[in-house]
Amino acid sequence: MPKAQPSFTSKSKGTRMIDNSWTDDAWTALVEKVKDTSQVIGDKFPAMTDENGRYSYTDNTWRWVTGFWPGLLWLLYEDTKHAPFADIALSCEMQMDAALNEYVNLHHDVGFMWQLTSIKRFSLTGDMDARRRGLIAASHLSSRFNIVGGFLSAWNKNDVNDSDPRGLSIIDSMMNLPLLYWASEETGDPRFRHVAIAHTETVIKHFIRADYSVNHMVEFDPFTGEVIRVRSGQGQSTTSAWSRGTSWAVHGMALAYKHTKEPRYLEIAKQVADFFISELPEDNVPHWDFRVPRDASTPRDTSAGMCAACGLLVLASELDDQEAEKYLLAANAIVKSTYEKYGNWSNDSDGIIHGGTFNHPQGLGIDVSLIYGDYYYVEALSGLRRLEMPDRARKAVSPAM
Ligand code: GLY
Repeated sequence: MPKAQPSFTSKSKGTRMIDNSWTDDAWTALVEKVKDTSQVIGDKFPAMTDENGRYSYTDNTWRWVTGFWPGLLWLLYEDTKHAPFADIALSCEMQMDAALNEYVNLHHDVGFMWQLTSIKRFSLTGDMDARRRGLIAASHLSSRFNIVGGFLSAWNKNDVNDSDPRGLSIIDSMMNLPLLYWASEETGDPRFRHVAIAHTETVIKHFIRADYSVNHMVEFDPFTGEVIRVRSGQGQSTTSAWSRGTSWAVHGMALAYKHTKEPRYLEIAKQVADFFISELPEDNVPHWDFRVPRDASTPRDTSAGMCAACGLLVLASELDDQEAEKYLLAANAIVKSTYEKYGNWSNDSDGIIHGGTFNHPQGLGIDVSLIYGDYYYVEALSGLRRLEMPDRARKAVSPAM
């Protein structure tokens, strides 16, 4: 059962120790690494690494990844107060205005983009321009709600290779909803929150399967709201279990509970998390899809592990110590193993962790660094190292969410 005053299990509590002592060295290595790479990456927008371990860049409007690099820098700035991190993050945010002002190509991932940048900066500085950007993004996201089908439409006409993407919704959307909860809290207007909850109900109905694996995409008729079909994207098939999609559900449902305190959301968050944990291989680094034949050569997806670990930490923060323990142990094991086996601590690569899989069905980006894998590594490590500091922990685990 959830308790009224959530707290973190610390090293000194619980029936078993959560040994997060390794996170001190890991944090030091991380900060040194990003001090170096930030001089190379600067205020560009990294996406994924090439065969030489160097980040390739996207422009300031591309899809959904632009917020991760500045978001990562804000997380590090919060701890280090290293001024160049803030300067670069701010410059990225300013460049993202091109997408915000262009408007027509915005999509549901405005959550990923402005939660980690403007809203994070607003939380750190109180800057009203940052708040304004967040509210514009939230207004856009809520305007994507299809009232007949009860879902947030993911994309626009030319975003996907599809004749009519207006009825497509995807599991990743759960990660964008904190933008709406934030906007309701910030303005006192519950409309944004109503949209987030209505979309969550649709996700529970049409995306979460009976065994608590998840569908990646569901196509609705945008005029009648009827479900047309389930579709796959980066997973193996419509019935497989794409690990990153599962991780979006783990993290997204934990956040849904955090913001609503709806007991059904907590139950589903726990079940989806249990499914994810049960599918982890021995070394706790997820394969790219949980329902492909798996052997030593099957690619992993460290980005899925990192996103799920962040979700497990959010979930744990909502539970009493006894129930939280298994989620804390799992998060600690996933991140530690990734740090040890997939961390890039030399200058051979711009990425922080490798072993990410971008799009296996298309053969794109296998065993690479992905900027969102790097971002969630920093977020998860930040949360884990604060486990002995309960008051700071709740703030740090999911900083802008
Ligand atoms: N949100 C797109 C992906 O997970 O690749």
